[in-house]
Amino acid sequence: MRSRTRIYDNGLVHVRAYLNEAAQRALLGEIEAVIAAAPLFQPRMPKTDKPFSVRMTNCGPLGWVSDRNGYRYQMAHPETGRPWPDIPGMVLEAWKELAHYPHEPEACLVNFYEPSARMGLHQDRDEEDFAAPVVSLSLGSSCIFRFGGRTRGGPTQALELASGDAVVLAGDARLAYHGVARIIPGSSSLLGGNRVNLTLRRVSKPRCDALMMPQKRDQNDDRNWNTDQPEQ
Ligand code: SIN
Ligand code: FE2
Repeated sequence: MRSRTRIYDNGLVHVRAYLNEAAQRALLGEIEAVIAAAPLFQPRMPKTDKPFSVRMTNCGPLGWVSDRNGYRYQMAHPETGRPWPDIPGMVLEAWKELAHYPHEPEACLVNFYEPSARMGLHQDRDEEDFAAPVVSLSLGSSCIFRFGGRTRGGPTQALELASGDAVVLAGDARLAYHGVARIIPGSSSLLGGNRVNLTLRRVSKPRCDALMMPQKRDQNDDRNWNTDQPEQ
């Protein structure tokens, strides 16, 4: 039997069919409730003010937003001003099983891709704690997901992410450039041709780690890793 899990050289983990069809439908119901409470918004690029082709929302104590003031995490929805809804229990369960990280995620970004949407290569680096992985769950249409190394412009690899698949960006893969090259038409009926991707992130360094493991904290202070890189 072909293994459902593939681990790439940089540590990126791809679990095919992590969620079965019933679990995908259940998760979709949870995400519809999140979107009803925190409507999808159109993020914009900080410098150019160009709209992303993806619409977004969040759940959890913090949510990721982007507008002319920059990329950031914030506690409230940019349009309604309300706190983000809670992260659904089954999403927290997935984090517990896949993250191998002893603290809860603080943000779950919900990306909504219509068939023509894509996402350019970028790093997830607005978090304080790169010791925590980023865990992603996909629903609906498959996509071609690309990832490379930690510097822009290097070679990339492509993999197909289908409905129910999970990806974990940990270790060297945590700061890998990654993006969505395109949505594959006709690949799923779950979302009428659209795709939803959830990414779970730990944003702040857990306070108890900072108090109990000062040495580890210093060694893992990743904030200087990218100072020589151009802004995204
Ligand atoms: C992201 O990098 O925020 C999204 C990745 C994906 O849609 O699979
Ligand atoms: Fe990302």
